[in-house]
Amino acid sequence: MRPRAEQCWYERLHHGPDYDIWVISWLPGQSTGFHDHGASSGAFVVATGVLEEHRPGERTRVVHPGKPRAFGPDYAHDVRNVSLAPAISIHAYSPPLSDMNEYELDGSRLVPRDRTSGKAGTVEQEWQVQKRKPSDGTDALSIEQVLSAARARLRRLSPDEAYEAMVKTEAILVDIRPEGQRAIEGSIAGALVVERNVLEWRFDPTSGARLPVATDHEIHVIVFCSEGYTSSLAAIALQDLGLWRATDVIGGFQVWRASGLPTVPPSEAS
Ligand SMILES: [Fe+2]
Repeated sequence: MRPRAEQCWYERLHHGPDYDIWVISWLPGQSTGFHDHGASSGAFVVATGVLEEHRPGERTRVVHPGKPRAFGPDYAHDVRNVSLAPAISIHAYSPPLSDMNEYELDGSRLVPRDRTSGKAGTVEQEWQVQKRKPSDGTDALSIEQVLSAARARLRRLSPDEAYEAMVKTEAILVDIRPEGQRAIEGSIAGALVVERNVLEWRFDPTSGARLPVATDHEIHVIVFCSEGYTSSLAAIALQDLGLWRATDVIGGFQVWRASGLPTVPPSEAS
């Protein structure tokens, strides 16, 4: 039985003055996004399953159980579970993890994410999110924290990756922008238009209002909006319905168009 997304998490097993140790579980499709570990050196080993480690300009490393990966300070990577099975890994940092920076891939180079924009989403950062929770007895989270937690559960796709998935696989590209925005910005040929307010009802395979394409929980839905913010929350809403492969497009329609991928101009868009 596949564990549900909310059961997939991480826990600090040890926190000493010299090092800390974390256990992280990964659902299929989850990734950290590119990040470093501040001044900490570290190492991780897969206990069960298979992970991938991505570094710009380097060949993807497949990390199998029992084959530890070690790194020094300022080392940046993106760790992903691209397999169809859950994975569990153990991570150690020395000195204990206290600071992280997140990056986006710009061509072949990493550029720091603007944290104030809410573009965040690594597993380790979620720990910092927990630390930032208000201490006044309420459990309220800011939208930045909600977005970070959502993205920690997603293996988000660049527009190029989303396009390739759409043309080469069974992936379904879903445009959740409202009609007014599509009319101004244009659209993407081949994308299925399902506005955000009806998204869950159209894709829950048990819903009476589902689309014909929403046959089961295995379909690969790739959501996009205008800039790639609310699409992350929409993708998580679909994952919570059991569509475990649901994800979204980094930068949304704006970055898709800026990347030179095919679009339908506003005048021709329906
Ligand atoms: Fe890491």
